[in-house]
Amino acid sequence: MSPPHTLLWFVAASIAVASANVAPRAPDACAAIGGRKWVSPREVRACYSSFKVVEAEKANIIDVISKMAAFHTSTNYQIRAPEPFASEVHEDLLGSLERIKNQRYASDYELHIDFSRTLKRLNDGHIAWVNNCYDSLFVNYLPTPLSLITDAKGIQNVHIAYEAFDVASAEFPDQIDFWQNALPGNLKGNLKSLSGAKVLLINGRPPFDAVHANALITGSYQSYATRQNSFFSSYRRTAGEWSYILGNFAQQSLPLDDFAVLTIQRVNQTLPETIILPYRSRIGTTAKAFTDTASWRSNNCVAVDGTNGIDAYSESLPADAPVAKFLQQPPLPLDTERKHGLNVLLDAAPWLDVTLPPTLQPGLVAVNGSYNSAQFYLAKDGKTGVLALGSFSDTQYFTFLRTLLEGLQSLKALGATQLIVDVTNNGGGFICAAHWLHRIIAGPKSTTVPQAGLDTKARAGPLARTIVDEIISKNKDPIVQLLYNPLNWRDASNTPFTADADWLEPIVPLTINGREDAFSPRLGNECQPEGFPGDAPSEALFDPKKVVIVSNGRCGSSCSLFSISMSKYEGTKTVVVGGKSDVQQIYCGVVGGQSTNFVTIDTEIKTTGLKNNTLAPPDLIVNGVMGITWRLAYGVDEPNEPAEWQYFPADLNLPVTPALANNPVAIWEEVARRLL
Ligand SMILES: *[C@@H]1O[C@H](CO)[C@@H](O)[C@H](O)[C@H]1NC(C)=O
Ligand SMILES: *[C@@H]1O[C@H](CO)[C@@H](O)[C@H](O)[C@H]1NC(C)=O
Ligand SMILES: *[C@@H]1O[C@H](CO)[C@@H](O)[C@H](O)[C@H]1NC(C)=O
Repeated sequence: MSPPHTLLWFVAASIAVASANVAPRAPDACAAIGGRKWVSPREVRACYSSFKVVEAEKANIIDVISKMAAFHTSTNYQIRAPEPFASEVHEDLLGSLERIKNQRYASDYELHIDFSRTLKRLNDGHIAWVNNCYDSLFVNYLPTPLSLITDAKGIQNVHIAYEAFDVASAEFPDQIDFWQNALPGNLKGNLKSLSGAKVLLINGRPPFDAVHANALITGSYQSYATRQNSFFSSYRRTAGEWSYILGNFAQQSLPLDDFAVLTIQRVNQTLPETIILPYRSRIGTTAKAFTDTASWRSNNCVAVDGTNGIDAYSESLPADAPVAKFLQQPPLPLDTERKHGLNVLLDAAPWLDVTLPPTLQPGLVAVNGSYNSAQFYLAKDGKTGVLALGSFSDTQYFTFLRTLLEGLQSLKALGATQLIVDVTNNGGGFICAAHWLHRIIAGPKSTTVPQAGLDTKARAGPLARTIVDEIISKNKDPIVQLLYNPLNWRDASNTPFTADADWLEPIVPLTINGREDAFSPRLGNECQPEGFPGDAPSEALFDPKKVVIVSNGRCGSSCSLFSISMSKYEGTKTVVVGGKSDVQQIYCGVVGGQSTNFVTIDTEIKTTGLKNNTLAPPDLIVNGVMGITWRLAYGVDEPNEPAEWQYFPADLNLPVTPALANNPVAIWEEVARRLL
């Protein structure tokens, strides 16, 4: 119910409006949240939902997504993915856009949810539609991230994370009292006592009903197991710190839920208790301040510098392009992509998150070579080296690659004879960094020289072919600024293409799910030698069979390129920590091959003078970003089929006991005990 002063204001405003002989209007729902840091999700939804669809914007987004779909390698595959993912990935993107075109929506927010979920149903973290107007403009939080814990008898239960209160009180010092006061009866003010509680029901249903519902909309990974795992808390090594990921239960990038009803059994209590915990929405770190609907739209919802591409020969992109915020890597200048190919996930949640509580952070000394997202440790056993690698990207490409080598050599100098590579929540990064790490661990051999990764193919749609044609026949890219320049690529025998080679020809026609499609011939290695810092050792640094790759399954993109080639070619073991015990855990997903985004494709088009081509997407008029898979890697087991939908079961599914939960060092010690 409205407080009295609001009601009075409304009456007064209505009279004023009515007397001006205009239809009476509701108060501005966005003015109600303008300038505030913490609001209720209901208030955010009221603002978002108050804005009607602008047909020109809707048509613009549909036009951009559908024309970008011609550059995305997987559009036709994803109509029904091959087994084992046929039941997970079956979305006809173009068909859905046609449906959206003809559908009416109560608000622009409702339309946005349809766009966002339609792309998320592809379960491919390379292709996403993210709109700064809505996604993570406000972030919805609960102070109770969850963990899936296995007890001494092997029984699994969902728990409120043991560290929940430590995390929430450190991250939300200005909101914790709200949640303290929201608790009923004698729990009021005692939020801390919820940490570790067993969760018996979520909203009156078994917890895995909520996990399942989230797995259907969270996107990003083909594997159902991995999407289940997104619900729970986890950790990641980022450039500046050990960070904590709250998981989809305790963090939402849209104001989807108002509260969670939890039936819990607290630690050392026998009786179940039911509590209602409200979500709270915090203004996102990169949201532009606003005071009402008009300023919300103009500051956050319209295209900005860097939303669209440029003519690379007469303009430059801004340093902090909007897409960078949602790529799952440290922010890089966009032109880095052309110098050092990227394969990285795009998500509606920004890369930076909250801090892992100090009690869970590794207490080991980081050894020489530790640098940003890559930290090296020697375990207490004196023989297990650890590389914690949260990303394959860094702002300093060659420095990053050299420090990877320095770190591994330091571990050896300290006596390490075996290695754990922890890639928990590693969303990829530089393709050639993945190849480099494989090459320096495994040494020079047929599986690492000249190609330490996977061969790929690019989609060869009509506009892509015209772009290549403009580059090679009209010299539109003399200093090699464009992705479609043949000088970037090599053929299947790893021979570089010449400046005039039409590398998309001869087209390989394929019929995929009943649709005619076309791809480039097979492409080989492009990393060696130029993409390597030069001094790769002449021998393996570690026996790859004494190397274990560990994650929560959320290892994607370049992380997959590394993990698949280490596992399939070198016999390296893989471990997924956590996950439901009766669901096969998958050690990586969303392989891709190379990812890119709308800005880059638009730049290719503008630089080659093809913006007027009927197949070219228009400039975006909204503040959106879109990613795609641009090259698709071939698999190892089935070398002539995409790796994307091949099967990567983990060698070990390590159950998370209370001692292991979000505790990297405890996990590494347990992995070493079991597998090394
Ligand atoms: C639960 O009981 C055990 C054994 O008495 C005790 O060690 C532990 O501190 C208690 N934990 C809580 C949160 O009360
Ligand atoms: C680490 O670096 C320091 C300073 O360069 C050097 O003295 C030390 O030997 C290095 N340690 C290892 C294990 O490489
Ligand atoms: C596109 O067409 C318009 C109108 O015909 C023309 O003014 C413009 O120069 C053309 N742009 C390019 C990049 O060819």
